[in-house]
Amino acid sequence: MLEHDIDVYYKTVLELVSLAGKVVSQGFSVTKRIETKSNTVDLVTEYDQRIEEILIKQLREKFPTHKFIGEESSAAGHEATLTDDPTWIIDPIDGTTNFVHGFPMVAICVAFAIGKDVIIGVVFNPILDHLYSAVRGKGAFKNGRPIQCSKQTELGLSQVIGAYGYSRDPAVLDAKSKNQRMIIEKAHSIRMMGSAALSLCLIAEGSCDAYVEYGAYIWDYAASDLIAREAGAYTCDPTGAPLDLSHRRMLCAATKELAAQISPLLTHIDYVSDSKKPTIMNRFLFLTLISVFVGLASSVPDETCRRLSNSDCEKCLKESGCAFCQNNKQCFAYDLYPTHPPCSTSELKFKTCFADLQTWLIVLGSVGGVILIAIIVIIICCRKKCIQRARRRDQAKEDAYGRKLDERRVEAGIRSEERKQAADNIQMILPSICFVAKQCQHQWRSPLFRSVLVINQRQLATSTKQKKDSKKQDNNVVVQSTTENQIEVATFKEKAQQAAKDTGYSVIVIAGVAALGGLCYLMLRELYSRETPNGIYKEASKMCLANTEVQDALGTPIMVHTTPQVGSMRINNVRAKVFDEKGHRSMTLAFYLTGKERSGVVGVKVQKNISNKFVYDYILVQLDRPWRGRNIIQVHQNLDTSKPAPQALDL
Ligand code: IPD
Repeated sequence: MLEHDIDVYYKTVLELVSLAGKVVSQGFSVTKRIETKSNTVDLVTEYDQRIEEILIKQLREKFPTHKFIGEESSAAGHEATLTDDPTWIIDPIDGTTNFVHGFPMVAICVAFAIGKDVIIGVVFNPILDHLYSAVRGKGAFKNGRPIQCSKQTELGLSQVIGAYGYSRDPAVLDAKSKNQRMIIEKAHSIRMMGSAALSLCLIAEGSCDAYVEYGAYIWDYAASDLIAREAGAYTCDPTGAPLDLSHRRMLCAATKELAAQISPLLTHIDYVSDSKKPTIMNRFLFLTLISVFVGLASSVPDETCRRLSNSDCEKCLKESGCAFCQNNKQCFAYDLYPTHPPCSTSELKFKTCFADLQTWLIVLGSVGGVILIAIIVIIICCRKKCIQRARRRDQAKEDAYGRKLDERRVEAGIRSEERKQAADNIQMILPSICFVAKQCQHQWRSPLFRSVLVINQRQLATSTKQKKDSKKQDNNVVVQSTTENQIEVATFKEKAQQAAKDTGYSVIVIAGVAALGGLCYLMLRELYSRETPNGIYKEASKMCLANTEVQDALGTPIMVHTTPQVGSMRINNVRAKVFDEKGHRSMTLAFYLTGKERSGVVGVKVQKNISNKFVYDYILVQLDRPWRGRNIIQVHQNLDTSKPAPQALDL
């Protein structure tokens, strides 16, 4: 850029600022139309907008290729990014609140920058008629006279200018208040001008020694920064880093030494980019990170960390609980609601210097994502397994039911076989029963005996039908299983019917067994009971064999038999005759004795006594040949002499 051009720009801007100053002066003491911008305390008046329009219009006419950054155009949505292009940076009224309230610290600010370097700076306070100006490398001037800053190096001897700006964010206000407090503890005083531009000009002319502001814009201090520097002041980022006009914060001190004393006292606020500010989620993740590293957020005092600012990351992080912001070299204690300036996640380091918070968030996010996916996969697998297990359980149940059905079929077969066997047994013993029945007509007529036979005959009759039924039932089950290709659960009705059938069969089987038992009892009684013809026959034959006269007469050994011929004896049943005699049940029976010498027919008569036991009337043996002149031997003769002894046996 030619020197000549710079002069042209400089002269032009001085002329325009002078004109604008007249407008500001006119509006200073009159009632103005006021509007708000970012919040209720961020004011704008019609004068701000009108002056900016005039300035930009005039400059554009003269320098149509130049770009413009203006406070009000920016508020209206125009681009406000400083590029390398020749750019005019304009604040029509810096100190609008002062202007509104009639406080005379108001200024028209115009800066001209090329390649992001400010070359010309003009700050004009039309109320006080203070015109501050500077061209890079040519010194600073107030109303045409050169100005110089104080050269103060001691904070303890300094008058510092502060600012609250427009933000009412509690964290920002806390940080700013804290900064004031930190400074006022050491400095002579703090002043607040309400105009960033004029504050810097006051440093430039030596009325104040330092100025710190967070939240001002490039148009507020682009021109005055150049003026202050040209007046010998040192300007930088409050962290001590080189000043960046776009970062909305600055520290200006009469000397570098003074700046170095102030910087560590400050709680920095980052305005670099809203999008780069840590969100609540980032803070939450940061705390998670802290928890991962140290269990809980450290309660290290912020002071401890701050002393380690402007050093390197390692030194800061050596102090447990401190975090380090790479871009501004600030070391601070991090908590959930930080009073320190927000630091972008890509700059913030905690516990380790090799990775910033963003990296950790990515790593943690990835690990978390992997864990989440793993958990989801595990849940899906478990669910699958659970489903498979449930299926297996159902299958096992079905198998068990199938087995049960098979068992039932087998049991039904067995029952059927048993019934068949029982019927066969009855058929086998039926002839014997009939024979016994013939022999024992009395028992034959007895209801129990008849019922036994009736039951067994019925059983015989029904066994074939049941066999068919059972087969039918079994077939049904098989058909059911195969056609439907699944085991059907029997309904309650079917189960009840089956149970009733089973009970019926059981009753029949029990009745059959009982009948058989009864039959056996009758047979055994017939065989072994004394009160039967056989019983009396056995007893009487023993008595005969024991009788000495019989032994002598017949000659031992003696054989007892129930039929006349010994060899033809097949059935060991004695002939008996049962009858009533005077109301007493009586019985006569006969059997045969064959000895070495003789044979004889034994006649026995018994009669039931009141105990229902047979007592002998007589036991007589009629010899085939006389023995000692006798044909009959009396083995037993009842002592009742009223009864005549039989002379011959009536058999
Ligand atoms: C404001 C003033 C104020 C400063 C703010 C600025 P404006 O400029 O310079 O002193 O603290 O940060 O925005 O809005 O009056 O032009």
